[in-house]
Amino acid sequence: MNLHKEKILEQLKSSSPKYVSGEAISTSLGLSRAAVWKYIQELRREDYIISAAPRKGYRLEQEPDRLNAASFAGRGIVYYPAVQSTNLAARSMAEDGAADGTVIIAEEQTEGRGRRGRQWISRPGKGLWFSMILRPQEISLAEAIPVTLAAAAALGQGLRRETGLKVTLKWPNDLLLEGKKICGILTELKGEPDRVEYLIMGVGLNVNHGEDDFPPDLRSRAGSLALAAGRAFDRTALFLSLIELLRESSALFFKQGFSYFRDTWIGLNSTLGREVTIAWPGGSLRGTALDLDEAGALMLRDETGRVHRVNYGEIV
Ligand code: BTN
Repeated sequence: MNLHKEKILEQLKSSSPKYVSGEAISTSLGLSRAAVWKYIQELRREDYIISAAPRKGYRLEQEPDRLNAASFAGRGIVYYPAVQSTNLAARSMAEDGAADGTVIIAEEQTEGRGRRGRQWISRPGKGLWFSMILRPQEISLAEAIPVTLAAAAALGQGLRRETGLKVTLKWPNDLLLEGKKICGILTELKGEPDRVEYLIMGVGLNVNHGEDDFPPDLRSRAGSLALAAGRAFDRTALFLSLIELLRESSALFFKQGFSYFRDTWIGLNSTLGREVTIAWPGGSLRGTALDLDEAGALMLRDETGRVHRVNYGEIV
């Protein structure tokens, strides 16, 4: 943080709950009133809530919610205040030999990535943006792919337990609340067809977002835990419990395969039994989602009655 901005913040914090005048700040720091105003505006953009009153000055009302990075020590977690994408950071750490289960979390991603090359908006103070490095033993690419569905099932179950909210799953691996997406998973793999070297499992979870935290065009489709619950959640505590769950469930997946998670996935899903259109690069298919097979593929009956096995794509 810029030194002047840091000093202004210090003064606001030490005076809180009292006001500190703009004049006092500008005299003590040798800054113009306009410069003080500019730094106050910057702090507001960083989610500090600062009120201003005529003849009184400025008062710090609330500090931004930030992850408690000190509680990550000794748990195989690497924290960044801001990073391009935790999946990218995880990939370079995996290349440098980072251990199985290592997690990279960032308060903010400047270029968060979603599936199919989309952008994943990752503002600070609102969600959980993290990636886990997994190094399974002797597993083929085809065997590894449903790990994302298994993770979605484990996260759905964990979130229901932690929040009491009725989280559902949309094939293949979106988590929804009241029909709106609250969480997505982007898994990237490195290896040969017959042997995966490592996987990066990236999770984006909207936790404390209000409506205004989403761009207008996303508001009808994006939700958050707080919007559904009507209260905020402790992101640090939630993150610590979710990564334990993901470490355990991925170890179980690599031992037992997707069939171990199939019942849980089916129990939480909101896709089966519905008329859906599934799209993938270069094609799409419309039909009724009948079932999920042991490998995580969706069985879809088209209008002619033919049943297709779909293992890649997304519902549009
Ligand atoms: C999706 O499109 O549904 C997947 C979204 C995955 C977003 C997460 S946020 C943490 C990790 N880093 C990224 O750049 N993307 C994933």
